Amino acid sequence: MNQSASNNLRLNSYWMPFTANRSFKKNPRIVVSADRMHYTKADGGMLLDGTAGLWCVNAGHRRPKIVEAVQRQIEELDYSPAFQVGHPKIFELASRLVELMPGELNHVFFTNSGSESVDTALKIALAYHRVNGESSRFRLIGRERGYHGVNFGGISVGGLGANRKMYGPMLTGVDHIRHTHDLTRNAFSRGQPEHGVEFAEDLERLVQLHDPSTIAALIIEPMAGSAGVILPPKGYLPRIREICDHYGILLIFDEVITGFGRLGAPFATEYFGVIPDIVVTAKGLTNGVIPMGAVFVKNNIYDAFMTGPEHLIELFHGYTYSGNPVATAAAIGTLDTYLDEKLLTRAGEMSSYWEDAIHSLCDLPHVIDIRNMGLVGAIELEPRSGEPTKRAFEVYLKTYEKGVLVRTTGDIIALSPPLIIEKEHIDQIFSEIANALKEVK
Ligand SMILES: Cc1ncc(COP(=O)(O)O)c(C=O)c1O
Repeated sequence: MNQSASNNLRLNSYWMPFTANRSFKKNPRIVVSADRMHYTKADGGMLLDGTAGLWCVNAGHRRPKIVEAVQRQIEELDYSPAFQVGHPKIFELASRLVELMPGELNHVFFTNSGSESVDTALKIALAYHRVNGESSRFRLIGRERGYHGVNFGGISVGGLGANRKMYGPMLTGVDHIRHTHDLTRNAFSRGQPEHGVEFAEDLERLVQLHDPSTIAALIIEPMAGSAGVILPPKGYLPRIREICDHYGILLIFDEVITGFGRLGAPFATEYFGVIPDIVVTAKGLTNGVIPMGAVFVKNNIYDAFMTGPEHLIELFHGYTYSGNPVATAAAIGTLDTYLDEKLLTRAGEMSSYWEDAIHSLCDLPHVIDIRNMGLVGAIELEPRSGEPTKRAFEVYLKTYEKGVLVRTTGDIIALSPPLIIEKEHIDQIFSEIANALKEVK
């Protein structure tokens, strides 16, 4: 076998997730190490991380407190059973995390990913109504263009056609409110768009259609990330909260992306001043280092389960790796890093520089919208006729070549750098994107 055939074989064994496998394997993009804001590519070139990995490396790469915590933990206690046995650090982590949460979100259930957190939250919502004597509430509502991971619960309430169309009927009893993306009225908004509070009334429509007594929960991202950064119009989230309260519907915020400082507050619930009943998190919880997710619930939800004979399991749900000691150590090291360096509010300090930088691209070719909030940004491009998504992906390839990692979803370039970013990194990101936009057809 010649060298290139053996290389091909090696690349082909791995079926890559959410990747155009054949095109990637013709021209692989491989990174071999990382430090703070940068990866090193296999060819030795530097790559500035404009996306915090996949929206998860909020403290930047290879941070010493996290590395040391993981190293120490693996030598001390590598694994302990998640069911009927505990280890000290998971109780410490839970107590510290709930302190970051506003209101009565005082209990936390651990998972291993955003997708598992979403499915856990949906199951807790359904089970809650049942233990609370309202088992007629079986319906789950999501939102168009929502992304809630890739498990069956998450794609059922999710609203991205491409993630759903191959997988049959999914969960029954699910419906969706409409999305809030409105380029005709809100293009080039800085921060929250002015128009669209009335989109919240779409929940009223579904309540009337299905009857409130059948609806268990509404799940939404307070700011939709993976669908291309869709920001909630002013007044929208408070109105959603009001409608849920009025009809006894649980409100679940999927904060897998917005959690842990992305918008400039520890969580979006605080940023927007709207407190849901359940908060779904993952990603930034461990800085992306070890898989872990966490679902926060209000006191009344937890308390509703804590009845009946004490020797009986209250919730038949959990994962072999829920609260895994090594993941727990990574989360504690991450939390220490966030707090020591005040990273959970740093996006607020950098956001006006970030906002001005991203909006400076508004007159460049193909740009039909720019939006931003905290350290999140999106540049929406006019799709090339007959070749949707290709123009944005060409920008991605060009900036990668020049040493800046961005992300694309459809024809939208999405940005979410580590929260340790400095002004010169921001300048570099937008100057490379500007160059690429001038070059692509
Ligand atoms: C809002 C949201 N929910 C859930 C998920 C799924 O997380 P994971 O990929 O860890 O399963 C993601 C991932 O991007 C997300 O953005």
